[in-house]
Amino acid sequence: MSARRRKARLNFGRLLMALVFVLLIAFIFYKFTQSVYDDFIEKRDGAGDLVSQDAPPRGAPDGGVDSADGGTDGAGDGTDGADSGTDGAGSGTDSAGDGTDSVDGSTDGAGCGTDGAGVGTDGAGDGTDGADGSTDGAGAAFEGFYYFEADKADRYAAYAAQNPEMPPGDVVWRVNADVDRPPYTDVATITDFSHPLMVNKHRRLPDGFEPAGLVETSSGQRMTQDTKTAYEAMRDAASAAGFRISAASSYRTIEYQKGLYNRYVTQDGREAADTYSARAGHSEHHTGTTIDLIGPAGTLRGFVGTPEAAWVAENAHIYGFIVRYTEENSDVTGYTPEPWHVTWVGADIAGAMRSEGIGSLEEYVVKHVDHRPGE
Ligand code: DAL
Ligand code: ZN
Repeated sequence: MSARRRKARLNFGRLLMALVFVLLIAFIFYKFTQSVYDDFIEKRDGAGDLVSQDAPPRGAPDGGVDSADGGTDGAGDGTDGADSGTDGAGSGTDSAGDGTDSVDGSTDGAGCGTDGAGVGTDGAGDGTDGADGSTDGAGAAFEGFYYFEADKADRYAAYAAQNPEMPPGDVVWRVNADVDRPPYTDVATITDFSHPLMVNKHRRLPDGFEPAGLVETSSGQRMTQDTKTAYEAMRDAASAAGFRISAASSYRTIEYQKGLYNRYVTQDGREAADTYSARAGHSEHHTGTTIDLIGPAGTLRGFVGTPEAAWVAENAHIYGFIVRYTEENSDVTGYTPEPWHVTWVGADIAGAMRSEGIGSLEEYVVKHVDHRPGE
């Protein structure tokens, strides 16, 4: 081989090496920026939900409750969707028109006593116990429960007529928890912030609400001190059992939630958004006691059906957490299941709920806060 050809081959070899080197540097740089970006996404307040809720579970068995909200309502105030305090009134009138919700009957709740529509048709008895005429004291099937409230007798009868297979005790606590009413109607603004603080589609926090004593986790998630202590204990126990979980989203301001919810409305429509995202003021994330968990997959949706999710469902109560939105309680909460969304209520409450088979915070509050056994 001539000296010239040897030199050319040497040059080509060097060029190749330089190219490989440049590609290697580019790859390392890409990987580095990706990990910084991922880290940023996870740490950003509230962004955990975006990581996953941009792909919320679809078609979960929820239906009835949310459909009663009247999708048409969204057309009127799309930009103001998050302001459910006043929006509740709008929904109420909408639902009167949508014809799907005979339970609502009274149109505004105030007219319950005179609203015989639901009850009247059931005059012959509701099939479960024959107790229809709550107005004349024949609603004894309901009165036997310690959480019975006399002023709701007509609603018990109407709801029982709608759900003839439902045991009367379930009728009573569900009505007490406003499950018979369309979501975002008869909304009460919470003024008593004592524990447990229950936020849902009928109970909102006042604008500007901020929980006292928020602290930050090492990854920058904000939550109450009790929640943080319990979360770290749960995370460490999960880790010891071989499961990696971490907080992707915790405290959110009402303003932040407003933007989040409105984005989902734009993306999926109001009716769909209402099945997986809370309107501003109605999100438990405002309380600082709620955490969205992720596992190795790194997204909320990727948490569904994993061993980590199963571990959390089985053990969260030990640390005082409840999985707030489950398949079983979706008709009560109005949300599709969220196995990643845990709320700290304390080990006493979480333990009692588990041992008594209480499947929602709504049921617990009716049976242990608003009323107490033995009263
Ligand atoms: N995803 C839950 C319902 C929230 O928005 O608070
Ligand atoms: Zn959540």
